[in-house]
Amino acid sequence: MLTKLLPSDVATAESTADPEHVFLFPEEEFLIRNAVPKRRQEFGTVRWCARRAMGALGVPPTPVVPGRRGVPQWGPSVVGSMTHCASYRGVALARASEFVALGIDAEPNTPLPEGVLESITLPQELRRTRELARAVPEIAWDRLLFSMKEAVYKTWFPLTGQELDFTDALVTVDAEQETFRARLLPDPARLSPAGPTTFSGRWSAHDGVLLSAIAVPAARSAPPGARTARSAPPICTAGSAC
Ligand SMILES: CC(C)(COP(=O)(O)OP(=O)(O)OC[C@H]1O[C@@H](n2cnc3c(N)ncnc32)[C@H](O)[C@@H]1OP(=O)(O)O)[C@@H](O)C(=O)NCCC(=O)NCCS
Repeated sequence: MLTKLLPSDVATAESTADPEHVFLFPEEEFLIRNAVPKRRQEFGTVRWCARRAMGALGVPPTPVVPGRRGVPQWGPSVVGSMTHCASYRGVALARASEFVALGIDAEPNTPLPEGVLESITLPQELRRTRELARAVPEIAWDRLLFSMKEAVYKTWFPLTGQELDFTDALVTVDAEQETFRARLLPDPARLSPAGPTTFSGRWSAHDGVLLSAIAVPAARSAPPGARTARSAPPICTAGSAC
């Protein structure tokens, strides 16, 4: 599922079941020494996926431990993102020379608890989500919007170390093309110059799982003066040749 949402030079690995035995590096084992079984399973399986993605990318297997605010640490030559929800674990990984950031998020295709949608949306998002829910009730559009915002955060935070509120990003969903765009709304002066201010992504809804994925390509070389330090990197419409 994930591979269809991202450019072909992004390595992906996913699993809908937890293998019985998963190898973990000692520093990873240490992190989950007191974890409940559910956490051990998602932690172990997603790292098993990470090692498969590393193999597909041609980089040696390394431990993946959280840094500040839980950001997975990949080492200097790789960027990536991990997600897990009931019955799904996924990883996307790419060379840092090709992409500056990736953000993926998986959620169950079930409605958000009552009241949550209103707390995470801007008025136009709320209207559109309700419209889509009436038109295509098989998809939990409220949960999908939440997932897209989480994917934006997972793309943004490792680049900038800056927090975002759910209403800091205006997300526009294209239901037919199965894409979305997000634009950060805070005053640009408040936003870190290290991060993009718009994002393009793809989404899917299959087998009870909603997925959102964003890939931000590395800036291509440009004539002197063509880009400023504050300008955002070009946006990758995932699935296109970025
Ligand atoms: C960090 C967060 C996005 C994780 O999302 P989630 O749906 O709870 O969990 P998922 O299973 O999809 O992803 C978990 C993985 O995300 C990664 N992750 C955790 N914190 C992260 C961060 N700050 N930045 C990037 N990735 C992060 C980790 O790899 C983690 O896996 P691990 O715990 O096994 O190492 C979420 O808990 C959060 O803090 N959200 C609030 C901020 C936000 O989304 N704002 C919206 C802005 S528009």
